[in-house]
Amino acid sequence: MHVTSKSARLAALSAVASATALLAGSGPAAAQGQLTVYCGVQEEWCRPMVDAFEKQTGIKVSMTRKSSGEIYAQVKAESANPKGDVWWGGTGDPHMQAAEEGLTEEYKSPKLSELNDWAVRQWEQSKGRAVGIYSGALGYGVNTKMLAQKGIPELKCWADLLNPKLKDEVQVADPNSSGTAYTMLATIVQIMGEDKGFDYLKALHKNVNQYTKSGAAPAKAASLGETTVGIAFLHDHVTMIVDGAPVKAVAPCEGTGYEIGSMSIIKGARNLDNAKKWYDWALTPEAQKLGAAAKSFQVPSNKATPVPKESPNLAEIKLINFDFAKYGSSAERKRLLAKWDAEVKNLPK
Ligand code: G6P
Repeated sequence: MHVTSKSARLAALSAVASATALLAGSGPAAAQGQLTVYCGVQEEWCRPMVDAFEKQTGIKVSMTRKSSGEIYAQVKAESANPKGDVWWGGTGDPHMQAAEEGLTEEYKSPKLSELNDWAVRQWEQSKGRAVGIYSGALGYGVNTKMLAQKGIPELKCWADLLNPKLKDEVQVADPNSSGTAYTMLATIVQIMGEDKGFDYLKALHKNVNQYTKSGAAPAKAASLGETTVGIAFLHDHVTMIVDGAPVKAVAPCEGTGYEIGSMSIIKGARNLDNAKKWYDWALTPEAQKLGAAAKSFQVPSNKATPVPKESPNLAEIKLINFDFAKYGSSAERKRLLAKWDAEVKNLPK
């Protein structure tokens, strides 16, 4: 009796001990430590990245998905007491701004030599603090069924989005939270000049039904018929099209901007060695292939990663000579966002 109850107590104690060990994150994963990743792409791609990295390294990853401008704001707010280690994905502009403001670490990965020039240029322009992980061009997705119902002719250009018949039928994100929408703001200013560009954005405002938080949300909304036009990266529309949505992806006739999706290590990262392991691994073809598997059809930065056959062909799109240094600079990004807030966001319709 006594023996039984003692062994029962011992069993209970060891169950508590292993539960505590699990909670404390010990076991094989914890032996390799932890990593906190701020993920700026679609959740559907963030998850398999985390799973694959954990499986390969035994490092336990804690991941948060947010939009580009939101991650920048979080990294800045936490800078006195950093909680994140790696900022993976999202458009390059807030990565550039963070680099300039000293919020991120310099790091030269041994994988740098395997990358396309545009990805290395991002690293050079950020003085070694951000690197390109993918690229993609901006455009819009048109729900062709809704367009036909409204009797609107085919849309081809940025200018076509001002058609009064599209009142409340265009959706785009808010450039404060979304790198996609900031890329659009900077694109329009570069194509039209600042005065005409803001005139365009004010006129477009009449047709905008909602400024969403996340950049890809308008692509989803167009695919579901919640808006006739959604402005987002072309690859985000392709994700919807491969799933059968009645959407046409349009690269505007005046030309369009593009992103260099980026990665940075956060200054003061508590898990710096593990952050470097993620960084090097995320630049390998093996890791980059997970994008296409998750239906994210950006152009990958490692030259040896196969470009998904679904990826919009950047060589066939009229791309502007996007000035990433200027539009990623802290002063310019702040100025343009403040101007958009003051002159566009709250304009009565
Ligand atoms: C989507 C795109 C990415 C882009 C990101 C920006 O996930 O697929 O290519 O970098 O949006 O997100 P944001 O919400 O900041 O516009």
